[in-house]
Amino acid sequence: MIEALYQTLEKVGYTHPVHPPFTHMPTGLLVGALIFGLISFLFRRPVFAVSARHCFVMALIFFFPTAFFGYTDWVHHYDGIWTFPVKIKLVLTGILALLLVIGIYLNYKRSPSMKSVLTIYFLAVLVVAGLGYYGGNLVFGSEKPVATEELNAGEKLYAANCGTCHPQGGNILNHALPVKNSTYLKTFKTFLVFNRKPQRPDGTKGLMPAIPPEKVSDAEMKQIYNYITHSIEGR
Ligand code: HEC
Repeated sequence: MIEALYQTLEKVGYTHPVHPPFTHMPTGLLVGALIFGLISFLFRRPVFAVSARHCFVMALIFFFPTAFFGYTDWVHHYDGIWTFPVKIKLVLTGILALLLVIGIYLNYKRSPSMKSVLTIYFLAVLVVAGLGYYGGNLVFGSEKPVATEELNAGEKLYAANCGTCHPQGGNILNHALPVKNSTYLKTFKTFLVFNRKPQRPDGTKGLMPAIPPEKVSDAEMKQIYNYITHSIEGR
């Protein structure tokens, strides 16, 4: 179902995530609600409280497609992987839904208290800012999970270049030094340096042949690294 949606979008030339453009609607409307609410409160102009309320209701309406496409993007572009920003975003989405409902309830009460309504508007803006921050983190930050195709490429490269000596991340030549949980996996840099010039823990030359860049490029090494850390170690 979700894949059909993205295939249709691809046919008309749209390959970006769908959620980010939608986020502008609730975000802008909530900022609008806060600004109109503040004007109404500070300058005692009740007509602006009505504008604020309308913005707030519109924000609730746009909350649904935005959250929905957030979910479908996550499934389609991030393989539904539970990373830290995704978890935070889920919690913040729940809090936002709650604030939207409370805000509307307070607005339609017989004699709404402008102070409590404003507090809700303010909190809602804070929460969307948090959602935006962690969304940015997902798209631009280091938290982007490795795509499945990348891992498959890494798996093939591993099988071709490392697998004979290191089946399943082990080490048939030296059982004491498996790939799995090796300290060289700490960062990609340490891993790369090791593969270009392998050695035993005491610094002497061991049995592992050096893997030159002509054989496995840095980019391919990165795929092997991702495959080991994600699929073998399940980090
Ligand atoms: C011909 C067999 C052989 C091949 C091929 C090989 N290795 Fe090794 N590897 C070893 C041996 C043996 C050691 C133990 C150190 C030594 O004797 O050099 C080792 C050690 C390692 C270690 C360090 C373990 C530790 O913590 O000390 C890592 C990481 C590693 N190999 C990764 C790889 C990767 C990645 C590839 C493929 C790009 C690869 N190896 C290809 C034999 C091999």
